[in-house]
Amino acid sequence: MKIYLVGGAVRDKLLGLPVKEQDYVVVGATPNEMLDMGFRQVGKEFPVFLHPKTNEEYALARMERKVKPGYKGFTFDTSPRVTLEEDLVRRDLTINAMAIDPDTGSLIDPYHGKQDLDHKILKHVSPAFAEDPVRILRLGRFYARYAHLGFTVAPITIELMRDMVKAGEVDALVAERVWKELERALSEQNPEKFFEVLDECGALAKLFPGLDVKGTGMQALIAAAESSNSPAIRFSALLHDLPDPRKSIIALCNRYRVPNDYRELALLTAQHFQAALDFKTLSADEILNLLGTLDYFRREERFYKFLAAVKAIDASRRKKLFKSFKTVDASDEFDPRHLIEAAQVSKQESAKQIREFIAQGIEGRELAEKIRKTRLEIIENFFAGQGQNMHK
Ligand code: CTP
Repeated sequence: MKIYLVGGAVRDKLLGLPVKEQDYVVVGATPNEMLDMGFRQVGKEFPVFLHPKTNEEYALARMERKVKPGYKGFTFDTSPRVTLEEDLVRRDLTINAMAIDPDTGSLIDPYHGKQDLDHKILKHVSPAFAEDPVRILRLGRFYARYAHLGFTVAPITIELMRDMVKAGEVDALVAERVWKELERALSEQNPEKFFEVLDECGALAKLFPGLDVKGTGMQALIAAAESSNSPAIRFSALLHDLPDPRKSIIALCNRYRVPNDYRELALLTAQHFQAALDFKTLSADEILNLLGTLDYFRREERFYKFLAAVKAIDASRRKKLFKSFKTVDASDEFDPRHLIEAAQVSKQESAKQIREFIAQGIEGRELAEKIRKTRLEIIENFFAGQGQNMHK
């Protein structure tokens, strides 16, 4: 029996990046031998074991073959005769198909992953890539992660992915897998690169209809990625300008079972970013309405995320203007400080009065009206103090 370190850990070690997870492949062993050594079996479809002490994953070397379409249409051969090379050839990218012998530290690299790392190329290992459409998304995600290092996608891999899309492979993708890869892509340094890859191979229109790699949403995503690490803020910036935004966002979120916090922030952003951008032209009444619609008084954290998405939208628009006119007026940059302060004072200063109203036994509609009136006055006073000329 022989154990090798494989996959992302080898890749990231060679790139000089921190290693998150260490996965191992075991050659020449049976499941019973693994259990006898104290490993715990996980994974129903093929034998993967957890090390009794480190909890790291050890998979028996396996060959995979697709027997029918879809996510589960694979058969596996995990006999002890399967070689390391046979295990590596079924993997997605050459840079993910290298192994290290932990005893000697030497690199086993039958598919020239090291060379592709040095040349900064994302390339499939073999035609077996086409058997798993998730790999299109994974490749997009790796591109989003490594593009800033100078990585590109091999044209031959783009071609293969185009063929996969034409053959209807992406139609078989399971919602959860798409969302998982999308969420991870959104968290990478250049999330827009994920969509570029999908666009180049024809998968974008099928998976994310309405998204345009040259559109304003993509520009807002780029700006959001520069200013925030939050995938939800990036997601909301991306979707703010879809055609018929409410309907499109709901359709996309339903299709991929996107978590509610993403859906809500994206909907609020698409529906209210313009009002937030124009807040200086709003009356105190309209500002209070906006805060109410954004559910600021109960969901303050989300309000800040909303503002971060709006800021990214504004930054991307200004960048576009700058490109056309080579100059933009810095003074009309979106600066939400007064909006935030108005929101905060109206929340804090109304709190004591609300408690008093409740102590007086006021409730229901009357209480709601009194709270509204109190907050309205606070906001009016706040802006009067700022000298802001409110449109009444
Ligand atoms: N792999 C694959 N095809 C997939 C999923 C995984 O070939 N659809 C292989 C790759 O060799 C990959 C390894 O399994 O390197 C481990 O997969 P995973 O842990 O999902 O990814 P990592 O490559 O480790 O990348 P990350 O840094 O994103 O975890």
